[in-house]
Amino acid sequence: MMKFSRILIVFLIFTQAFFSQVREVKDLDANWKFHKGAIENAFQVNFNDSKWETVTVPHDWAIKGPFDKDIDKQVVAITQNGEKVASEKTGRTGSLPHIGTAWYRNKFTLPKNSKNKKIILLFEGAMSEPQVYLNGKKIGEWAYGYSYFYFDVSEVIQEGENTLAVQLTNEAFASRWYPGAGLYRKVSLIVKNKESINQWGTFITTPFVTSNEAKVNVKTKVSVPNSRLITTIFDAEGNKVTTLESSLSFGNEFDQNIKVDKPKLWSPETPYLYTAVSQLFVDSQLRDEVSTRFGIRDIKYEANKGFSLNGNVTKFKGVCLHHDLGPLGAAVNKAALRRQLTILKDMGCNAIRSSHNMPSFEQLELCDEMGFLFLAESFDEWKKPKVENGYHRFFDEYAEKDIVNLVHATRNHPSIVMWSSGNEVPDQWGEAGVKRAKWLQDIFHREDPTRPVTVGMDQVKAVMESGFGALLDIPGLNYRVHLYDEAFNKFPQGFILGSETASTVSSRGIYKFPVVQEKNKQYDDFQSSSYDLEACSWSNVPDEDFVLQDDKPWVIGEFVWTGFDYLGEPTPYDEKWPSRSSYFGISDLAGLPKDRFYLYRSRWNTKDETLHILPNWNWEGREGETTPVFVYTNYDSAELFINGKSMGIQKKNNATPQNRYRLMWMDVKYQPGTVKVVAFDNEGKPVAEEEIKTAGKPHRIVLEADRSTIKADGKDLSYITVSVVDKDGIPCPTATNQLKFSVKGEGVYKAACNGDATSLELFHLPTMKLFSGKLVVLVQSKTKAGTMELTVSGKGLKTEKLVVSTSN
Ligand code: GAL
Repeated sequence: MMKFSRILIVFLIFTQAFFSQVREVKDLDANWKFHKGAIENAFQVNFNDSKWETVTVPHDWAIKGPFDKDIDKQVVAITQNGEKVASEKTGRTGSLPHIGTAWYRNKFTLPKNSKNKKIILLFEGAMSEPQVYLNGKKIGEWAYGYSYFYFDVSEVIQEGENTLAVQLTNEAFASRWYPGAGLYRKVSLIVKNKESINQWGTFITTPFVTSNEAKVNVKTKVSVPNSRLITTIFDAEGNKVTTLESSLSFGNEFDQNIKVDKPKLWSPETPYLYTAVSQLFVDSQLRDEVSTRFGIRDIKYEANKGFSLNGNVTKFKGVCLHHDLGPLGAAVNKAALRRQLTILKDMGCNAIRSSHNMPSFEQLELCDEMGFLFLAESFDEWKKPKVENGYHRFFDEYAEKDIVNLVHATRNHPSIVMWSSGNEVPDQWGEAGVKRAKWLQDIFHREDPTRPVTVGMDQVKAVMESGFGALLDIPGLNYRVHLYDEAFNKFPQGFILGSETASTVSSRGIYKFPVVQEKNKQYDDFQSSSYDLEACSWSNVPDEDFVLQDDKPWVIGEFVWTGFDYLGEPTPYDEKWPSRSSYFGISDLAGLPKDRFYLYRSRWNTKDETLHILPNWNWEGREGETTPVFVYTNYDSAELFINGKSMGIQKKNNATPQNRYRLMWMDVKYQPGTVKVVAFDNEGKPVAEEEIKTAGKPHRIVLEADRSTIKADGKDLSYITVSVVDKDGIPCPTATNQLKFSVKGEGVYKAACNGDATSLELFHLPTMKLFSGKLVVLVQSKTKAGTMELTVSGKGLKTEKLVVSTSN
């Protein structure tokens, strides 16, 4: 009896919440049943899924591995990388078991009086080729795993219990990186009245912006003629700013111009957000209400001047990001995304490119809030293939639909300042490709006349000849620093974007000797040197981009490949198992900064001091050998001391790109002890110092949480950096101790990652080796507030504990 009444109360609360407002959004996140493998009748309502695994969505079915060389083994020549002869490649899509068919099933209940409602089933991404069934009937399908799409299920959905079944299929060789697998983004149900505002039907732009006033244009598509729309604008503090009522619509669209006095403008430095609440009335009855967050900002792209935001010329200090979240795989998690952006903000980064596909809604929301400019990309392939089962299979049928959904779903984010219709598409060659570029750009323009379109181009000579580059709003060059001047002269736009730059490779905390610039360099341990002088045949080290950015006012910024390491594409070791993740990141797969982080920080973060020494100073066996010391700093000059002895003063100079941006003492001979650097200001006064020391044996574990209180929502994460120090507290930079983790209390152990691109240890198991003295443990909250305790232990080390609180 007790139990029954509890169920009744929960049901009543749920029913009330569901219909107390004119529209409700219900996340379908809990209690999904999951099965890997093709099953013929799994869409049927009475199919018995009781033996299937229970999972929550977002979910990535492949991230728990195991890593397996054979999963993505292929014998190919990657023409993209200039290869002519085929060879065996592994790890290109992460070597995780993402290929094949799988099913998800979810039973959910709709309360009584759901009849006469309009009900939308929204997928924010499904990897991939989703076939969607509701109550045993097929309601639709999609193809591209990164697209947002929805179905109107009003006719098929029923009061009481409903059964949703989704079949997903990942073909082999469908991607150039780890795509993830499954319902890796949110699924939700939107229940509203038949007379309502259309899905993604609101489009807010700010066509006139001064510090005194702004014109906010709100276009709203509705399902019903003869209605009335009231749009009210609220400021970030929730105060009403202004309101406008309209009863005049054009077709099914209202078009309102609303004046905001003394607007607070959105920018990366001041990410101020307003909210527009749109209320739809029919016969004086409120029928629908939608809230849309937006920013007031003005963007312009002008010849020779470049990009201006609110009248200020602004260069893109950007990074490219793939969508995977390292140890979490592709399953979207807001805490993980927020941490990435926090790390990037500290580096001074102001822009993100969602390479090479649609970003998650969560990432865009965070970029709006935290202040990042956003280049939202769509495709890595058009009609001509790069990989056997890539997007070219869907291009004709889906390209327009995919772009329309991208634009409609995300156009109100002030962070988005540019679209990209493609990346290094082989269609850069040939006349048909020129037409395709124009066709796609026109679709973007039709759907959003306020933002320009780019393509990341690598076939620069070809696109200069064919007209492909000239027709784009923004010519984006991927690498090819030697062609910037020529492209600027040939193209009519009057500026060039570094849509993809650097592709420098390095492994955190790994240094190789002698210290020389190299292309495609390989070592026996399958790591790359963190002196930041190694790149690919097609790419370059960061300093070469810096020269262009600093010396050419018409270069409007860069998007570095990449902000973080990602699963897959282990260049330069794609022929060398067990390399399975990238070396390109400024930070590693765990989000731990490599040395390169400080090189970018020294240039991009103009507010905070950067003074960073490399390499580490633990080189037993190298005594007396040449061990160059680099310092990445915002200061112009500095003096270096080894065990108190001066190695001289270095000053940035124009001899080479490296001399311009790094301080380098090339002749230092290694002796254990202390490396100290003293930096000088412009008048030569010592203003800052930093030192590193040779460490003894690992003695004690050190735990440091990025956030010590997290939300008790069952989703939030704390990232705990684990390192070891010697008996004097000096960090041990080469430690590789095997550690064990356990969590008790109101939280769970989620994953660990050490950033080693060759590690086959599984992220979700509670043990991992340190890599270059560090790793990161992720702990996740439960839904009850309280505390959890993480214990980390390792042989011969003092066990360490850390408490993380969770609150509602
Ligand atoms: C680019 C490509 C990226 C990545 C990168 C590696 O050509 O656009 O997706 O493959 O090279 O350097």
